[in-house]
Amino acid sequence: KPLALIGAEVGEGASDSGCKLGAQALRDRGLAKHLAEPHRDARWVDMVHARHEEQPQARLDSVEEFSVRLAASVRRQLQQCAMPVVVGGDHSCAVGTWSAVADAWREKGDIGLIWIDAHLDAHTLDSSDSLAPHGMPVAALLGHGTPGLTSLYGWTGKIKSGNLVIIGARSYEAGERDLLESLGVRVMYMPEVDRRGFGACFAEALALVRQRTVAWGLSFDLDALDPADAPGTGTPVEAGIALVDALQALRGHAADPACVAVEVTEYNPLHDVDHRTAASAFALLSAFARAELPEQALAA
Ligand code: ARG
Ligand code: MN
Ligand code: MN
Ligand code: MN
Repeated sequence: KPLALIGAEVGEGASDSGCKLGAQALRDRGLAKHLAEPHRDARWVDMVHARHEEQPQARLDSVEEFSVRLAASVRRQLQQCAMPVVVGGDHSCAVGTWSAVADAWREKGDIGLIWIDAHLDAHTLDSSDSLAPHGMPVAALLGHGTPGLTSLYGWTGKIKSGNLVIIGARSYEAGERDLLESLGVRVMYMPEVDRRGFGACFAEALALVRQRTVAWGLSFDLDALDPADAPGTGTPVEAGIALVDALQALRGHAADPACVAVEVTEYNPLHDVDHRTAASAFALLSAFARAELPEQALAA
């Protein structure tokens, strides 16, 4: 499948809107060329831009309106049998990305999602202190939150709670943790990742999601990585996943015919140090999108 890169120029979902510049910065650094392979096209097909707003309610409105346009862009690429690669942008972009994927597959079955993040992003307006929409996409995709985020395409519950696995969480509030717990979402918190290794965690998440769904995707928030590998994110958190571990585990999985979309979010070029975070984003996407399955890579 060709890779269709879509810039999600949204920063209104976060208190620090620097992530809005992330997609263009990665584009300028040559991400498409980096991902292209002799037998696989990779090119930018769209840049979706959120309307600038300052006040909390207006920012939420902007994110809701942006989500509809991003979803339309993602849906277009799915229709053309390309693999959408959504490049953030703050993580509120996930609402548009995965609503489009869920709606495209709705007749065929449920979709699964592996969510790699230092945060849970499972707030509703009631539980969130920051009121920042990038802290809400998981809840929204599960069907909880404002209708503008939960009800794209006129239906809610884009991801069923059993079809979502979150890996790497280490910074969260009680309200969002309780929501996920009450819904029975599998969360692999950072102590578990440290104990078992990221590779074992990702493999379990993948097996779980593949077994229950017809199509799956990956949403990677760069702040899941250790700040040593990704200093340039909106909200860095100490003691995260090592880039080398992520690269090894993710390698080749986009070649799974059931893998239908991928997203990398929260790149903030204003906070980057020596382009280290940009380099991590490049490496993650190219490892994941390598045109071979991991088993074949091992056998070769
Ligand atoms: N839990 C915090 C909040 O809701 C931080 C969320 C960070 N989310 C992210 N996608 N980086 O404000
Ligand atoms: Mn603008
Ligand atoms: Mn996130
Ligand atoms: Mn995060």
